[in-house]
Amino acid sequence: MQELNHKLAEIKQEILDGMEQLESSKEVYEFKKSYLDSKKGKIGQLMKEMRNIAPENRAAYGKSVNELKEWATACFEELDVKLKAKELQQRYENEKIDITMPAVKKTKGNLHPITQVRNQLIDVFSSMGFEVFEGTEIETDYYNFTALNTPQDHPARDMQDTFYLSPEFLLRTQTSAGQIHVMENRKPPIKILSPGKVFRSDDDATHSPMFTQMEGLVVDKGITLCDLKGMLDVLVQKIYGEGTTTRLRPSYFPFTEPSVEVDCSCFACGGKGCKLCKGTGWIEVLGAGIVNKKVLENCGIDSEEYSGLAFGIGIERTAMLKYGINNIKLLFESDLRVLEQIDD
Ligand code: PHE
Repeated sequence: MQELNHKLAEIKQEILDGMEQLESSKEVYEFKKSYLDSKKGKIGQLMKEMRNIAPENRAAYGKSVNELKEWATACFEELDVKLKAKELQQRYENEKIDITMPAVKKTKGNLHPITQVRNQLIDVFSSMGFEVFEGTEIETDYYNFTALNTPQDHPARDMQDTFYLSPEFLLRTQTSAGQIHVMENRKPPIKILSPGKVFRSDDDATHSPMFTQMEGLVVDKGITLCDLKGMLDVLVQKIYGEGTTTRLRPSYFPFTEPSVEVDCSCFACGGKGCKLCKGTGWIEVLGAGIVNKKVLENCGIDSEEYSGLAFGIGIERTAMLKYGINNIKLLFESDLRVLEQIDD
């Protein structure tokens, strides 16, 4: 019996020491099993020993082992309750939702300024009955220049520093190339808009080797500069605001005659003169003119019966003016800090 008591005291100490190491209810469960399991547990085995004990000692033996068992069960239970509470608390902490925290800001994407201006221009002109025709970025020398009354060695080719792909093919320098395709394939009345990328070997704060233009072409009976001015007045009012007007200045393009440079009254100062319009009250916005008879004839259109007007607008330039951007590169750098500010 003495030996047994000694053994029980040992197990008791072992349990006390062991419990100090336990950190989770799962560990308590395993630890508990290693003592109380009826087959493998240390106390369980002592219980099984019972039958080998001399009958006169059996009751005392059973009592002592049982006491230890009850004591251990209570200890484990107590520790289990404590650790489970701690674990629950921890789960609450981890899953805590702070409802006072500011919500994650949901940002709504917006269209690129070039796309915005392109769409605005298309809106203005489609309300006047224009259709969109998109040409190709690779063109032949014929469509980009020769058919536009700018044959080889014409000095006007100098105005557009061209990326040639071969003597015949080039990256179009102007959407005007689309005029020829349309006039070759359709009979007047023609009213098209041709937006797209164009390419010139030009690079500074206001020029980029790739930029976007929007061509407009109208061919019908009796088209004059007045039609052009009327349309452009509507355009600048829609883009730059009510009260904006246009003025035409003589200019030169081989494919229009007469040719004009179109200015709009300065929308920043209302025409009084400011930094934007360099004190003149006017801002140059696009090139235009009456389609040169030679161009109509090149496309098989009778220039006695029909006349046309054409204009070409730089979309980046329009976006820069409209949104006060001073460097064209900002439109190509995809910097969200810039792009997010422009959402019309
Ligand atoms: N294609 C000309 C340019 O790129 C602009 C223009 C288009 C001028 C149509 C007149 C008529 O400079």
